[in-house]
Amino acid sequence: MKFGYFDDANKEYVITTPKTPLPWINYLGTKDFFSLISNTEGGYSFYKDAKLLRITRFRYNNVPADSNGKYYYIKDGDTVWNPGWMPTKTDLDSYECRHGIGYSKWESRKNGVRANVLAFVPTNDTCELNQVKLTNESDQAKELTLFSYVEWCLWNAQDDMLNFQRNFSTGEVEVIGSTIYHKTEYRERRNHYALFSVNAPIENFETQREDFLGAYHDNRDPKAVCEDGHLHGSIAHGWSPVAAHEIKVSLKPGESKSFVFVLGYCENPDNDKWESKGVINKAPAKALLSKYQTDADVDRAFGELKAYWDELLSIYTLESSNDKVNRMVNIWNQYQCMVTFNMSRSASYFESGIGRGMGFRDSNQDLLGFVHLIPERARERIIDIASTQFENGSAYHQYQPLTKRGNSDIGSGFNDDPLWLIAGTSAYVRETGDVSILKETVPYDNDMSKATSLMEHLKRSFDFTVNNKGPHGLPLIGRADWNDCLNLNCFSEHPGEPFQTFGPSEGPVAESVFIAGMFVKYGEEYAQLADLLGDSAEAARARKEVKVMYDTVLKEGWDGEWFIRAFDAESRKIGSKECEEGKIFIESNGFCSLAGIGVKEGYVEKALDSVKAHLDCKYGVMILQPAYTVYHLELGEISSYPPGYKENAGIFCHNNPWVSIAETVIGRGNRAFEIYKKTCPAYTEEISEIHKTEPYVYCQMVAGNDAYIPGEGKNSWLTGTAAWTFVNISQYILGVYPTLKGLSVNPCVPSDFGNFKVTRKFRGATYHIEVETNGHESGVKSMIVDGVNVPGTVIPYEEGKKEYNVKVVM
Ligand code: GLC
Ligand code: GLC
Repeated sequence: MKFGYFDDANKEYVITTPKTPLPWINYLGTKDFFSLISNTEGGYSFYKDAKLLRITRFRYNNVPADSNGKYYYIKDGDTVWNPGWMPTKTDLDSYECRHGIGYSKWESRKNGVRANVLAFVPTNDTCELNQVKLTNESDQAKELTLFSYVEWCLWNAQDDMLNFQRNFSTGEVEVIGSTIYHKTEYRERRNHYALFSVNAPIENFETQREDFLGAYHDNRDPKAVCEDGHLHGSIAHGWSPVAAHEIKVSLKPGESKSFVFVLGYCENPDNDKWESKGVINKAPAKALLSKYQTDADVDRAFGELKAYWDELLSIYTLESSNDKVNRMVNIWNQYQCMVTFNMSRSASYFESGIGRGMGFRDSNQDLLGFVHLIPERARERIIDIASTQFENGSAYHQYQPLTKRGNSDIGSGFNDDPLWLIAGTSAYVRETGDVSILKETVPYDNDMSKATSLMEHLKRSFDFTVNNKGPHGLPLIGRADWNDCLNLNCFSEHPGEPFQTFGPSEGPVAESVFIAGMFVKYGEEYAQLADLLGDSAEAARARKEVKVMYDTVLKEGWDGEWFIRAFDAESRKIGSKECEEGKIFIESNGFCSLAGIGVKEGYVEKALDSVKAHLDCKYGVMILQPAYTVYHLELGEISSYPPGYKENAGIFCHNNPWVSIAETVIGRGNRAFEIYKKTCPAYTEEISEIHKTEPYVYCQMVAGNDAYIPGEGKNSWLTGTAAWTFVNISQYILGVYPTLKGLSVNPCVPSDFGNFKVTRKFRGATYHIEVETNGHESGVKSMIVDGVNVPGTVIPYEEGKKEYNVKVVM
């Protein structure tokens, strides 16, 4: 069952009922100012950091799920309604929400009045614009009142929730004309304030929440709107400051009026905070507001946003006969990659925005799907991440985006982390050819006195694995590897103890076959970077170590039919036929196979066949089978989840593409695509009533076969799935893969995929690539570049050449 449809021409998903199974959200903002916005106009805004600079307040985990946002109430006689249906839930005569790329819009009708709302964040300013247009479609004059409403967050979102004994006394505002300023804590250490303004004279305003809502009311039936029919001009004094406008709107039949609301963030230099004693310096606010006074201003900014995205989405485009793949590749998957790059795992409807900051591992993987879009920002991010690395190559697991400092409560000891830095950096250099990044001076633990080249950081990442092997010669797992919940050295017995950091944690014995797979894959990429810098001795040393690991995996990590997952702290196998539960895991089989371990020995085919036989289900490839039915001290968090959920036999969408990529490594295009399809939003749209999360983006986890409702998705938007599925479809299935030497074209598609074209902008040139598949799953028979037959699959890169016409025949 569907709750809307894709409008590919406009790059929008059109939601046709407000009653979606869960709030279906979108993200506004491209760089510093961001908003989350749901199909019923719930959500919140922040500047740069969802924890420390939260602008509007949200109530997490609430019932109904989504009950605070930027709301417009329309009072028409006795009827009060919202264009997004929530929070009054007044039945609408028509409703439509379109989530687009960086914007959302609504068109709704009630009693002869049409409301159109457009919400977006302009590309170059720190504000969100809401254009609200009311049209009288009836044949009688209408006297309406339009109310706006937002609730301020007192900046630090965590403190805002917890420290209310203080916060009930700190709230402060100023009101000038139609602009409401939120200046809590500006009197002391803050140099920033927020504002909510409208480009029209107002009848009245409200800034104290209790005067807007009234005691024992909530935003479903605000007393000021629903009973009094007007605002009261309250000035907030502590408690909960809000911003609401009241505007009288008279509309003749057929007449429209439109209003531009601006929710903005402004900063002043420390020595220029005040206009006069206690009065904030409004110069930046005036400058901001002067840009958004008319509908024409909105049109211009909206045009800029569209142009910004059209340009980005022109970097990789696909034309094939499969509309679903076209739409994921050309629109939604790349869009989600941008959002995960910007948000990491901070702010979504499943992550509060106040928990973990940026993950070392997560951010490096997010880069893989983003680097082609804005390589300069990827470069900056790589340097930030590397700056939190320790001198021995290990890394803080997380860091805060505002301070860019490593997060010491979680610390280090996740032994896959260091290798992801090689993955991210290699992707950047392959995309751009920019070798200078490798020579950049980068600190350890943010201490410039201990700085080396980035290449030396990568060397220490590589050597961290070399120097930290266990009894079988496999990499030590530490607190956990990619699977945060496989805690083999922790042994937590009491509730409240963190699974990852409890006990010996970084224990000396437990080993990870998954990290071994990573080491083989990224060790080779490291060797290639060393070659590129002319350091053939280092490249040879690296390849020697990689070879040792390759052999070790085949010797110690092979279970007969598949790769085992790990050895626990007592050197017992995890993910082996010898185990009672958890006999086979996806991660080691996916990653060792995609790294090519055992291809020539025939192991990969076997491993992937076993994955299909044991882990496949209708909705994707499960993380492990059989699920753990009881808690295991020696395994940790993984066995804390009931069977079928999350890391205990859920379908963790993030690692499905690893298996799909692995299938392309052995040329099985049909199977690679079958796996791709199972978790692909454009395909799961059809079962939205089961899947529940947004049908235009990936979610982190889909419930596995053992769960109560198999196929039910959770944790949408912020997941490494976005980057990995884009890498899979664009670089492995369609096969347009950036190498250090140039773009390679080596598709691995299902046999009925048909011919296709990819246009790829790469290192300043445009590549027009046409592929004739001839019913083959893999194998390039010939490649012609600008009329010349080229051996192999890599298009020779020529400095300065602007256009390449490439014809590939399979
Ligand atoms: C979450 C984490 C990611 C981890 C995965 C598996 O998605 O963000 O870092 O790899 O879970 O545990
Ligand atoms: C994994 C889980 C995530 C959890 C984290 C720490 O990343 O997917 O839900 O918060 O581990 O336990």
